[in-house]
Parts: sequence; C-alpha cells; structure tokens
Amino acid sequence: MLNIVLFGPPGAGKGTQAEKLQKKYGILHLSTGEVIRDEMSRGTELGKQAARQMEGGKLASDELVLGIIEKYIEEHKSAPGVIFDGFPRTLPQAEAFDKMLAQKGTGVTIMLALEVPEKVVIDRILTRGKTSGRADDQNIDTIKNRIEVYEKQTAVVADFYKKEGKFRAVDGVGTIDEIFGRLCEAIDALR
Ligand code: AP5
Ligand code: MG
Repeated sequence: MLNIVLFGPPGAGKGTQAEKLQKKYGILHLSTGEVIRDEMSRGTELGKQAARQMEGGKLASDELVLGIIEKYIEEHKSAPGVIFDGFPRTLPQAEAFDKMLAQKGTGVTIMLALEVPEKVVIDRILTRGKTSGRADDQNIDTIKNRIEVYEKQTAVVADFYKKEGKFRAVDGVGTIDEIFGRLCEAIDALR
C-alpha cells in the first residue's frame, strides 16, 4: 500500500497536488480539512464540535481527527494507496497513526513536504478566499493564526518522519505542473 503524507503549511498546494496525484497513481485522497468542512456544511454533531474547536484558525482536537482517520482506514482497507492531506498535524496524531497502520500491517511510505514561503501562501489563500467560501480564508488574522499554529504544533511532525527516514522536502514554488513533476519524481524513486 502506497501511503503518502502530503505535508505543508496552509495554502501550500496540498489539495491541488493531491487531486493530480490521485489520478496519476490511482490512489485515494483524504483531506481531513475537507471531511470536516463537509460535516460542518451538513450541520452534523461532529461538524458543530469541530467548528467550536477551530474558532480563529485553531486545530480540531486530536480525538476528533483520529476518529475520522480510523473510520476511513477501516472503510478503505483494500485501497491500493491513500494520500493523506493535512494529516497528521500534531505529534500525538503521528504516533497514533503509526500504530493504526501497523495494526493493519502497513505504514507510512513517504512524507512529501511542500516548502513554500509565508508570503506566497498568504497570497494564495487570499486569492482563493475571494471564491472559496471557506470561512478560514476570509480574514487575515485567521490566516496568520493558521500559519502560526502550523509552525508551533505541526512543523514538528516533519521531524517524526525524518527520524524514520521517510521525509522528502519538495520545492512548492513554481507552476502547478512543475511542482507536480517534482512530487512524481520523489514517488517514482520509491519503486
Ligand atoms: P485544511 O483544509 O487542511 O487546510 P490547510 O492546511 O490550511 O490548507 P489549505 O487547504 O488551505 O491549503 P492547501 O495546502 O490544500 O492548498 P491548495 O491546494 O488549496 O484544514 C483546515 C482546518 O481544518 C485547519 O485549520 C484545522 O482547523 C482543521 N484540520 C484539518 N486537518 C486537521 C488535523 N489533522 N488536525 C486538526 N485539525 C485539522 O492551494 C491553495 C490555493 O493556491 C488554491 O487557490 C490553489 O488554486 C492555489 N495554488 C495551488 N498551487 C499553486 C501554484 N503552484 N501556484 C499558484 N497558485 C497555486
Ligand atoms: Mg487543502
């Protein structure tokens, strides 16, 4: 099973690239952010709980997110591979994820980390915010807070995969196709 963790700050291009990788490699794409937004738009209990936790650009709780992941893994046991986009985002999530995958006889194959400077991600998010309807894209304070949360709580997750020898940095600046080419090169080098 090809389990790819697609990593990077808010607005790095994870969702954009995951769509393309999904098609090329015939694997699935799970964005925890998208699952949560879908739950919120349907007004489910989980969505309401997440909305309270995420106020101002904060993370949802590990418990809530791990529940989503556990259910997803259970329901897609026979998939050829999955791109995990926006997960794991904290050390406890990374540790729990490793255990969950090990129980299924699999593990993370590689972490591909899109490296994009802060100014570029802010511009990308503000541009998207004009049309996305995403509440967390509208306000510069919320956007800056998302980046700060990434630096304080999420960036350490890269070290976790570095220790396991699974970390690959990928330059996330350029055209969408250029970046896609770099990601494919890193994946093809695994085979
Ligand atoms: P999530 O949905 O994961 O948002 P994010 O990490 O903030 O990232 P984005 O989706 O904003 O950006 P992206 O990297 O996917 O970039 P995209 O391809 O869209 O999470 C949202 C929230 O949910 C979190 O803040 C948190 O509260 C909660 N959450 C989610 N997962 C969680 C977890 N595991 N634990 C706890 N809480 C969790 O690109 C951005 C824009 O740039 C687009 O408009 C795109 O068209 C454009 N673009 C992309 N590539 C390029 C390029 N090369 N050149 C120019 N423009 C480009
Ligand atoms: Mg995204």
